Amino acid sequence: MTNDERPIFRPLDVRGITLRNRIVMSPMTRSGSPGGIPSGRMDAYYRRRAEHGVGLIVTEGIGIDHGTALGTGSMGEGDVPELHGEAALARWREIVAGVHDAGGIIFPQLWHQGPIRSHFTGPRADLPSARPSGLWGPAGSVGTALTPYLEQVMPPTQPMTDEDIADVIAGYARSARNARETGFDGIAIHGAHGYLPDAFFWHETNRRDDRWGGPSLRERARFGAELVKAVRAEVGELPIMFRFSQWKLQDYDARLAETPAELEQLLGALADAGVDIFDASTRYYHHKAFAGSPLTLAGWTRKLTGRLTMAVGGIGLDKELKNSFAGEVGTVDNVPDVERRIEAGEFDLVGVGRSLLADPAWAEKVRSGEPFLPFHPRVFADIV
Ligand SMILES: Cc1cc2nc3c(=O)[nH]c(=O)nc-3n(C[C@H](O)[C@H](O)[C@H](O)COP(=O)(O)O)c2cc1C
Repeated sequence: MTNDERPIFRPLDVRGITLRNRIVMSPMTRSGSPGGIPSGRMDAYYRRRAEHGVGLIVTEGIGIDHGTALGTGSMGEGDVPELHGEAALARWREIVAGVHDAGGIIFPQLWHQGPIRSHFTGPRADLPSARPSGLWGPAGSVGTALTPYLEQVMPPTQPMTDEDIADVIAGYARSARNARETGFDGIAIHGAHGYLPDAFFWHETNRRDDRWGGPSLRERARFGAELVKAVRAEVGELPIMFRFSQWKLQDYDARLAETPAELEQLLGALADAGVDIFDASTRYYHHKAFAGSPLTLAGWTRKLTGRLTMAVGGIGLDKELKNSFAGEVGTVDNVPDVERRIEAGEFDLVGVGRSLLADPAWAEKVRSGEPFLPFHPRVFADIV
């Protein structure tokens, strides 16, 4: 088989856009945007990955346009980029043009931190954080949260009102419109890890008994589905990618869905609303999702929805993200296994995070068979 015939290098069409291969740069916060405006370093950072053959770049999480009216502030950090305001949009126009010049495709990841943002921090430090039921999550779970942060976020706050919810959905829609006008090729929505859309999905943070909550995942999917519809109304034919996860920053062992049938309730609602690609965020791409079947979360997602699906977690590296802050993480060539799974129809795309931070030319190493570079924690702070 020639390189071009290999499953990982086969092009993929989605809504009229052709990805040149199945390698996707997973969204990674870089904190290189003081005041929400991407700094000069970000152009070369994204362009380099496109020049070295990445099929699709999903940007770092970008704070949605929220907090200007009733709002509650989407971001707790001032150096996360925004997708509103002429200065930020002008910079994104340049970054996107650079990626396109290099033959790349790029989606912005729309991000609202919801309950995870510390109250009264970030660009709208006058505002509390947005929470479906005023809750951050259960105490005493297995997350990475540190005590001073927990003291700040644990006390319950006012649940979001209907007006707050309408306001935040409108904020997603405005940011999506800005993305289209800026030249992005599609939209990625961060609906995972305990942030805002996920806080509606998770029973621990959504105790509502109105139309935005309820005992079933189908009922708690409504916020995600409504925001996907609002984004779709703004972006027309652009592809929409949606990231979801079982695990939360509040609790690494959390599970949204205990069974495939529950997962189907969530994903069915999102697919019906207009999601084209599901990004099933796991810490190890190959772990089975439910007892009694070897299928991964991405595998179940594809089987249940029939939509394009991406797997992620530990591609090229032998330790997952949480265990990679202490020292060097060794490499592992799990690409043959990934290709076997693509070929078998388990998933379509593969998200690559830390491997692409450690080595912008990682996709070329896959092609040439050269050894991968290990991941060193200093890379977390580098934007190169
Ligand atoms: C530095 C860094 C920042 C990240 N920031 C985000 C983010 O903004 N949005 C998101 O959805 N995931 C984020 N992630 C998670 C990655 O997208 C990815 O899912 C995770 O690192 C697992 O992939 P990997 O094992 O290939 O690194 C981040 C990961 C890293 C290493």
